[in-house]
Amino acid sequence: MDSIRIRGNGPLKGSVPIAGAKNACLALMPASLLAEEPLVLDNAPRLSDIATMAVLLESLGVDVALADSGLTLSLHAADIVSQKAHYDIVRKMRASVLVLGPLLARTGSATVSLPGGCAIGARPVDLHLKGLEALGATLELKNGYIHATAARGLTGAPFTFPFVSVGATENMLLAATLARGTTVLRNAALEPEIVDLATCLRKMGANISGDGTPEIVVEGVERMHGTRHRIVADRIEMGTYMLAPAITGGDVELLGGRRDLLESVCLTLENAGVEIEDTARGLRVSRTNGRIRAVNVVTEPYPGFPTDLQAQMMALLTTADDTSVLTETIFENRFMHAQELRRMGARIDVRGGTATVTGVPYLKGAPVMATDLRASVSLILAGLAAKGETIISRVYHLDRGYERVEEKLSACGAIIDRMTG
Ligand code: UD1
Repeated sequence: MDSIRIRGNGPLKGSVPIAGAKNACLALMPASLLAEEPLVLDNAPRLSDIATMAVLLESLGVDVALADSGLTLSLHAADIVSQKAHYDIVRKMRASVLVLGPLLARTGSATVSLPGGCAIGARPVDLHLKGLEALGATLELKNGYIHATAARGLTGAPFTFPFVSVGATENMLLAATLARGTTVLRNAALEPEIVDLATCLRKMGANISGDGTPEIVVEGVERMHGTRHRIVADRIEMGTYMLAPAITGGDVELLGGRRDLLESVCLTLENAGVEIEDTARGLRVSRTNGRIRAVNVVTEPYPGFPTDLQAQMMALLTTADDTSVLTETIFENRFMHAQELRRMGARIDVRGGTATVTGVPYLKGAPVMATDLRASVSLILAGLAAKGETIISRVYHLDRGYERVEEKLSACGAIIDRMTG
């Protein structure tokens, strides 16, 4: 298993290109199932999660072709040859469940294994299932699989999410495009990835309005067609690289970075003493004076502070000038990085969904273990700021969500390399 070695090396300086959003791409790829013509996605991130989704779609009969060094994906679902998403693929990645809605909408039946993914809590899919039932699907859970049928097609209906779910909103959007009649989704997720999906679906012929607000209206259409779409920037990758100059006291320009995608994080970082300015090419992030100021953070659905940046933010706050409180409201059990950060000298007290972080003057390098995708990158950030050497094992988590992370950080002066085997 690969590990990453980092030697803390002071301020990072340079520029980092921001890739297309993994989470947008994972919802856009299943949209190809809705049309007989190809869906071409530009600005795709080159990540193992995207490869997993490609394998899953291929198993259903989608012809997947890569161009422009993997930055362009062409997905052609002329014929659906299977309606079954097997456990072997789905267990690797929870987002696989996003094939359920479009398969059902296009073919009237789908069998999808119950999903796996990062070990950050129970993460059920009950909302996806309740939503599809509201559209007239008949569901049965048998031997670890969801068996869904809608022999006479799906029918539009109102559906209110009891709480905000990104994935369930996406599955419903995908399914409702081809349903008969009007679907009104209330308490829908507002994430930019939802807006990106709705934008692409509109280009494919869907009739959707209200995306980016809590009420999305979908007027079902008879058929969808192919299109070409450029994937929005990855705000989580962007936020992660904003934290690299913040934690090391450096100065980094994020090429393709957009403040409007991450306003809550920008405000939090500014309160902590980080400087952020718009540039012609993106965003420039720097910290030039003194220690980070302690700040309190509560994770929330968009536009609140994203749970996917909580671990990285915790790494930053380990060296703040005072005590910060981080509250995780989206996932239980998402503080597994705290014990690894403690191995590097951090002072963190976790109680339930709250972590109290008392800043120390500096972290010390140590061998640590990545426990999930975002936790692994928080350890990289900590390693960049620590004195001495940090070795992070189990970095396969990292490859699910960060493209060429060693290369991007080395280009800014980090001493970081991957040890294979
Ligand atoms: C997506 C993102 C993930 C991010 C999360 C929250 C993708 C591929 N992943 O995950 O990176 O951390 O949004 O911003 O886009 N829940 C249920 N029942 C359901 C669905 C969700 O109880 O049917 C719960 C989850 O366990 C969690 C909360 O709702 O506690 C929010 O989850 P959700 O927004 O659905 O996250 P994902 O779509 O899985």
